[in-house]
Order: sequence, then C-alpha cells, then structure tokens
Amino acid sequence: MTKFKRTLVTTALPYANGPVHIGHLAGVYVPADIYARYLRRKGEEVVLIGGSDEHGVPITIKAQREGVSPRDIVDRYHEMIKESFAGLGISFDIYARTSSRTHHELSSAFFKKLHDAGKFFERATLQFYDEQAGQFLPDRYITGTCPHCGNERAYGDQCEACGTSLNATDLINPLSAITGNVPQLRETRHWYLPLDDYEGWLKEWLLEEHADWKPNVYGQCKSWLDNGLQPRAVTRDLDWGVPVPLEGSEGKVLYVWFDAPIGYISATKELTPDWERYWKDPSTRLVHFIGKDNIVFHCIIFPVMLKAEGSYILPDNVPANEFLNLEGEKISTTRDWAVWLHEYLVDFPGKQDVLRYALAATTPETKDNDFTWKDFQARNNNELVAIYGNFINRTLVLTRKYFDNRVPAPGETTDRDREVLAEIPRVIERVEKNLDSFHFREALREAMGLARLGNKYLADTEPWKLHAANPDRVATILNTCLQVAATLSTLMEPFMPFSSERLRGFMNIAPIAWAAMGGDVLPVGHLLGEPGLLFEKIDDAAIQAQVDRLEEKKRRREATTARPVAPAREAIPLDAFANMDIRVGTILAAEKIPKTKKLMKLTVDTGIDRRVIVSGIAEHYAPETLVGRQVSVLVNLEPKLLKGIESRGMILMAEEADGSLSLVAPDKPVMPGAGIR
Ligand code: MF3
Ligand code: ZN
Repeated sequence: MTKFKRTLVTTALPYANGPVHIGHLAGVYVPADIYARYLRRKGEEVVLIGGSDEHGVPITIKAQREGVSPRDIVDRYHEMIKESFAGLGISFDIYARTSSRTHHELSSAFFKKLHDAGKFFERATLQFYDEQAGQFLPDRYITGTCPHCGNERAYGDQCEACGTSLNATDLINPLSAITGNVPQLRETRHWYLPLDDYEGWLKEWLLEEHADWKPNVYGQCKSWLDNGLQPRAVTRDLDWGVPVPLEGSEGKVLYVWFDAPIGYISATKELTPDWERYWKDPSTRLVHFIGKDNIVFHCIIFPVMLKAEGSYILPDNVPANEFLNLEGEKISTTRDWAVWLHEYLVDFPGKQDVLRYALAATTPETKDNDFTWKDFQARNNNELVAIYGNFINRTLVLTRKYFDNRVPAPGETTDRDREVLAEIPRVIERVEKNLDSFHFREALREAMGLARLGNKYLADTEPWKLHAANPDRVATILNTCLQVAATLSTLMEPFMPFSSERLRGFMNIAPIAWAAMGGDVLPVGHLLGEPGLLFEKIDDAAIQAQVDRLEEKKRRREATTARPVAPAREAIPLDAFANMDIRVGTILAAEKIPKTKKLMKLTVDTGIDRRVIVSGIAEHYAPETLVGRQVSVLVNLEPKLLKGIESRGMILMAEEADGSLSLVAPDKPVMPGAGIR
C-alpha cells in the first residue's frame, strides 16, 4: 500500500432489468464489501461505489416485452436492487444510477473531449433497419436461422442453441423481432475507438506492469492481446441512452459499454465534490470488482478510454471472479434459475450473514463453483452454529455463571493458554495477507480457524468441570476465551457484519480497530452484556422448501420446453382396448382433500352405482364448478386407497404439454352408464 493514500473500490453496475441473485453477490458484491469493510476497520480512506447500469439493449428488450417504457423498467429495478444490497449489508458509500443528470453530463463531456481530440474515427456500415418500426435494429432484435446448427430462433448476436456468437448479417432468413418483417440493410455512421492503436501501450501497462493480476484475469487479457484488437464502435442507433453530443447525430446514443464504466466516475462525483481527488490523483488506488464476463471491458476498453482522455488514473487491480452455479446448473435470469436476493431476505430474515458466509466460503475465485442448499445448511449448522456460535455462547454463559458477567482476572497461565493467545496475531496476519491479495475464501477459512481453535480449547479444558476445585484456572481459561471472542468480533466483521454487531452487543464493547485486535481490549472487570445466540440451526424443512421451489421451476420449464405432442405409442390389438370399461358418469359432489395440493374427492353417478373417485384435478378446477358435469370414467380400474379414501375408478383427462388438464366429456347430455368405445 506504500505508494497509495486511498482506495477507490468499484463494483460492476448491474443492468436494471431484473432483480439480483446469489451469483451477483458471490462474484462481485460480497468480495468487494469484505474488502471495503476490512480497509475501513484498518482506518484507511476507502470508498465503495455501486449503482445501476440503466442503458442499452438489455433494458429496451425488457421494456418491449412488458409493453412499458425503459424508464419504467429502470425505476422499478433500481429501487429493488438497491434495497436487496442494503438488506445484505453491502456497504456502498453511494448507489448511483446512469440515468442521472450528473452521469449524462459527465459521460457526454467525456465523449466530446475524446471526439474533439481526434481520438475516434468515423465509419459508415450497413445495418439492418425495420421500415415499419422506423428504426435501426440492434443485433439482439433480429432473429433467424443459425448458420452453424440450423436453430431457427437464433439471435443476431448469439445462437443460444449452440452458443456461437454471431453477427446479425450471418443469420439465414433474418427477421425483425419488433414487427416480424424482413429487415433491410441501410447505411449508418458511427464513431469508433481504435483499440488496435493502443496494443503496444496495453502490452506494456497490462502484461508487464500488472503481471501480478489474478491468473484468470491476466490469462484472458493476454489472449485478447495475442489475438489482436479491433476498433470498437462507441455509438449506437437507439433512442435509449446518453445522446451523442454532436450535431447531426439525432437518434444515436453512446454505446452502453462506453457510458456505463464512466458511471463509476459520475457516482463518485455525486458522492463528493472532492471526487477528482479520487479519480485524478495517482496516490489513489483504483480496484474494480467484476465477474469474468466483464474482464475485457474493465481491463482493456475502459483503460484505453481513460488513457485517451488523459486526466484519469488507471485501475491498479481487477480481481474478477468466475461464475457461481446453482445446484449444478448455470444461473440464468431468463430461465428463472436463481436464488433471488429479495426472496432470500423474506425467507430467511435475520440470516444475512449465513448467506454471506456460505457465498464467501465458495467464492468462485479461480474456477466456477456450485451453490447448493444442502451445503448452505451444512455451513450454517456445522460451522456457524456448531463452532463459532457454540464457542461464543459457552464463553459468555460460563462467564455470567461463574464471574457475575465480568471479565475475570487470569491466574497463572499454562502452555496451552499461551499457545492460544500466541495464535491470535498469527491468524490476523494470515487473514490480512489473504485479503490484501483478494483470496477471500482462504481469508475466511483462516478467520474461522480462530473460532475453531477457541472452541476446541474450551472443549478440551472443560472449565465447567473445574469450577469447584480450581476457580483460578477457570478464570484464566475464560479470560483467554473472551480475548479470542473480542478478536473475532472484528476479524469476522468484513465477512459477517450483522453477527459482529450482535456479538459486540453480547459483550458490551465498542468496535475494535483492526490494529487494536489481539491487544488488551478487554480490561479485567469489564461488565459484559446480555448473551444471546449468534446463529441458529436451520432445519430440514426450510431447506426442503427451497429445494422444492427450484424443482418446481425446473418442472415448469421442462413442461414448456417439452415437445408439445408425444409420438404415438406401439400398436395394440382391439382386445387390449376393449378390456377397458369406460362409461359416461355425472359428478354429484366434489370436495378438495385437505392437506393435499392436487387431490379432489368426487362422488360420481356411473349409471352402475354411485362411487367415490379421487382425482388429481384440484389445481385445475374449483369443486363447485364440477357438480353436475359429465365426465368419462374408467370404471373397471382396481380400487386404490388414496389419503385414506378408497378410490374406485379414474376420471379421464386431456393433458397438455404444460401440465394443464381438461375433462373429457360427451358433447351432449348422455345417460350415465353409457359405454365409451
Ligand atoms: N451491466 C453490466 C453487466 O451486468 C456491467 C456494467 S459494469 C460497468 O454485465 F462498468 F460498465 F459499469
Ligand atoms: Zn446455432
């Protein structure tokens, strides 16, 4: 940290087109928050910047799908995302938005300055145009057949069936996603940033001066540079974004990846009038926290923009993470395969730290990692509750019981006590070393190691058995434990700020500075607070509910993507059909079977008799709408006991691919008992 006086931490600005999920949290916001909280406790000057990325095609597509304006979309999700992050304790100094006036002015001026200094070139290209809609079509707005795999619903930027990235002009039979018309190629002019002119500089600045960056980041940058860079268009034909501040450029906006990173600067400007100290003074250390899909923008394109502008500092590090999967599958917003933060906060109130812990412990630092609810439960029950929480609780309860809730004076110490105390500074050092080098998982493991050590020390020394015979020994043990507990309240704080706050309450202590940890922070005689539980067990039912919700999502998705019509089954002789005795019946009574989701108890007049049939249609029909209806009944099906009710026969149903059910009935009233053949 020697040459730096302050740290500016930025976090990727999520698109305000949907809620945020655990993948965002694990890869970017939890690590950035751990880092910022750590530096703050060390007394360093640090700001943590966040905000919404509100421009670009992702927003306009969402708006179009819902038939509302882009403004409606960003207003809705900006607030929602901001609240989710606040709920999880992400300690942003500001959570800004790129639709703000400050941002429009700053990004516009940034562009103008580069333009006027001759840093761009202009070029005319052919672009698809929708005559009826009267607009140019972004690549995402064009669908057609993939030239690689033949998928007929590929997008102009990518085929989701085979994963190939495409240009809209590669598509066979391109169609406008807005009107469905065949789009026409039309000439349009744009401004380009000649990235290739900066290759020499990038190789030196990045590959040589920043060879210390994480291998996943460095490797990706090196391969971009080895393959050679191309000029990038920095404007688009779109009506949502920062307008291009040049005459004759109506209908054009800055490319979203041009304006969004400038959002870090405008957010800082909104935060403080002193923003230039952060962005223009080389003694500021700029660190970008991002996911791996953002590497090229933060390590190559944005630095080139900053370099071309000339007055700003460049990033000192970009500790990008890989992706987090969910139960073995890629997290996907469009497929609704995610754990949404706003839902977590409702389902697990007061358990923000459990999620923070589980995510920090599985941070996808060098490769993709997997989040499972089982693992989440195990981390809570076997680590947070059984180790950290247990240690704290025993220590505090015993102190209250034997020493009137005051820190006891230690007696003579043994090797074992001294070993535990000697470990404190060593653990702190290892945690620091790991945090300084962005190894969050390892840092947390080390911090947890201290709780584990304390817990084991307590279990081995068993002070509860010693009290009568040797109160002095108990005083020494508990004093040692209390020192460890006080250390943990600061050491754990960057990872789990909510429980650290609770722990300080239990111990009646003020926050302890990073440098003061391990020192004499708990004077003998200090009166502790009211002890409580730092963590609580999460039972199987709570976990099962989450697993069920995911399975339901999967089931629904499979139903909608399933082939709409199953192929015909193997041929059978007429006899096989004639064995089924199917009759017309009339429903006389219907009631839902309590404590089941699907089952309904029906009383049916089959013409032969009146009988009870249990049918799985409760999700599709209300009981009162069924009485009097005629249905087809398989009457010679073996009786079956369902929920304690004997069901005699089966009501026939038409079932569609999405699982919806429809009764099969004669098309005019028929005497009950009439045979169906
Ligand atoms: N919105 C982008 C994404 O979700 C990230 C933008 S980061 C910024 O991938 F630097 F451009 F702000
Ligand atoms: Zn394809």
